[in-house]
Parts: sequence; C-alpha cells; structure tokens
Amino acid sequence: MSSKTKNNIVSTIEPPVELDVAAIRADFPILDQKINGHTLVYLDSAASSQKPREVINALLEHYRHNHSNIHRGLHTLAERSTEGYEKTRSHVAQFIGGVPTEEVIFTSGATESLNLLAYAWGDLNVHEGDEIVITEMEHHANIVPWFQLAQRRKAILKTIPITVCGHLDLSNLDTIITPRTKIVALCHMSNVLGTINPVAEIAEAAHKKGAIVVVDAAQSAPHTTIDVRALGADFVAFSSHKMLGPTGVGVLWGRSELLEEMPPFNTGGEMIREVRFDKITWNELPHKFEAGTPNIAGVIAFDAALSYLDKLGMYNIHHHEMEITRYAFERLSELDGLEIQGPQVVEDRGGTISFTDPVIHPHDISTFLDSHGIAIRAGHHCAQPLMRVMGKVATARASCYVYNDKSEIDALVDCLKDMRKYFGV
Ligand code: ALA
Repeated sequence: MSSKTKNNIVSTIEPPVELDVAAIRADFPILDQKINGHTLVYLDSAASSQKPREVINALLEHYRHNHSNIHRGLHTLAERSTEGYEKTRSHVAQFIGGVPTEEVIFTSGATESLNLLAYAWGDLNVHEGDEIVITEMEHHANIVPWFQLAQRRKAILKTIPITVCGHLDLSNLDTIITPRTKIVALCHMSNVLGTINPVAEIAEAAHKKGAIVVVDAAQSAPHTTIDVRALGADFVAFSSHKMLGPTGVGVLWGRSELLEEMPPFNTGGEMIREVRFDKITWNELPHKFEAGTPNIAGVIAFDAALSYLDKLGMYNIHHHEMEITRYAFERLSELDGLEIQGPQVVEDRGGTISFTDPVIHPHDISTFLDSHGIAIRAGHHCAQPLMRVMGKVATARASCYVYNDKSEIDALVDCLKDMRKYFGV
C-alpha cells in the first residue's frame, strides 16, 4: 500500500523500520579505520557514498570469474557479462517505478546523462528565441549543458528564483514558463540546501505550455523512493556512486517516444544496426545511446548496490535520514550564530546540511574537522550561481546516509565547539 507525500516521495502507510546502523556499518569496510588518529566519521555522502562489501565483492567477482565484453561474444563469459549487465538494467527499471527496460540508458554519471539530453534532444528541438528554464539552486551539471545549448541554438536561459527560506519561488511560474519554453530542468533535491522540490507541480505547469521536464535526481535517488512517472518527468538523471554503487555509472531514464525520436549522442560500436559507407542505421533502444564498451563491471556491481538499498527499504532510509537531520538541527543550534542554509523544516528537505560560521571560513572548518577524523565538504559545491544568490562564497556541508548515526552528529558538533575554542571565537 503506498501513498504520495506532497513532494512526490512515495511512502508506505506502514511505520518505518528502524535501520540497524551498527550492522550496516559492519558492511562498509572503509568505515573501520582511523583518520588522523580518530575514528572516521564520514559525512560527505552527497559528494560520493561509501560502498558495502556486496558491491566491492561484485566488482571483484566480475573481474575474477566473469569478465568479457557484452552483447558481442557468443562464448560463456560474454553471456555471463551480458546477463549481469542487463540484469542491472531491469533492476534500475524496477527501482524507479517499474518502467520498460529499454527506457533505461547507462551513462558514465548524471553529468553525462544531462549532456546527452542537451545535445541529442536539445539540438533537435530548441531553436532561436526558444527558452530553457532551470532553477537558481542547480548544480553546474544542470546549468552548463543548458547554457551551452542556449548558446548553440540562440535560445534564452531563464531561472526560477528561490525564496529566502531556500524553496523554489513558484509565484511567477506562469510568466517564467511560457509557450516558448522547450525544456524545464530542475533538481529533485538540492545538493546544497537539501530542499526537496515539488517536481510534479512544476512538471504539470511545464507540460501545459508544451515543455519537457528534465529532473536531476542525483541527490534524491539515493535517499528516497523514486517513481519517475509520478514525478511527471520526461527524463531523469542520476549516478550510481552516490547510492552505494561504483563510480563511472549513471542512468538516464526517458520516455521511450522521446528517446526514439532523438539522434544518438556518442557514436561508434554497438549503437548501430547497420553501417555502410553511404548509410548508417541506429540500433534499437536503449543501445542507440550506449556507444562503445561501457563500464561493464561498474554496472554489474550497481545491481548489488540497488539490492542493498532494496533490503533496507528506501522509505526506511528516508525516515532514518530525517531523524538524523532533525537531531543535527537541534545540536547545531547550540553553536551561536551558526547558520544552516535551506529549509528549516526537516520534512521539506533531505539529510544534506550546509552551514556557515559567522567567523570561520568553511575551508578552515573542513580542515579542522578532518584533523579530527570527520569528513565533510566545503566550498561552492558546484553551485556558484546559488552561492551568489545566497550571498556566500562557500559553505560547509555535512551529509548523511544509511551508515551514519546520531553519535556522529555529536562528534561533529563537539568538534565544531573545539574549533571555536581553537580559533579563539
Ligand atoms: N555533486 C556532488 C556534490 O554535491 C559532487 O558534492
């Protein structure tokens, strides 16, 4: 039995099952180490998550026993590799709401998925004077491809602003999205503010004007149940490495009727049906968009990551992170003047907490924390336009995942207090 929350995160009506964090931590060998003499506290999963033993073993197993190229050979290893690769595709299709497998395209990451779209769909459909709408809270990966497309096609890049609370300001949506708008591209969850955006509402407004909707789900797919059709999206991009899987693997999901009409992005082997010197025909979906030898081992091991997430349950994961975030808000409030960016209501956000100290620079915060074994990210988080809107040059960012618990928030807050003493503030 499932129902949708206002932000289109599908939730069950059953109460969540509490994650057994101690057992989970035992599955992540990397966490069992000291950094600079202190137990590692990893609070940088929004940049990249750690990998459970199942994923590491799947990579090793593939290279030790099963490796071959895929879709080409007729021998046993080729069959094993192809089967493993296509098994992950079916798993992804289920994971994002039960879509047809041919709508799932493997890329090198969300960035490549978005670039693919900007070239393949954008160059075909965007013309001089057309508009592309993004938001002020986008990661560079969901800005630069559209900026470049606008330059190539002499189109206009527009933005949906944010409110002071770090939500999208939808009050003028009707004038921002117009009949000239071809693409509305937005993140489901901000990598800086943690904001969960009302994608379905925006998608409805975009579709009314005839625009397509592209969702950057890099920060949400690892943490919440994703149903791409319920989101109202036409295309959705995300990366394996933020959701317990290997680096170098991404997903582009798209509605098949749109993917069918798009030309390929990369060309070469595997994406063709027939090549002659005077004529080339493309392979069927999804292979038309997967030129060359892909990251076979990475895709196969991504299946193990998805199984791990399935076992925990995405609803339980989301609930766990809300609990940690709520606790982090409480504890961080003990530090006078420390400012948490983005929505202050935990239900409106994910477990990515950007903060600034009134005196100490985020880079100094990160360096001090690292000297005590605590990993966070500091900087502009690949969101320079957002930083400008926020009037900041950088923030410190702590982001949690399935293997974090409240004691690590305690370690963070205690260390921030020590840092203030150290800097004499
Ligand atoms: N997009 C990743 C982050 O926000 C790298 O840290």
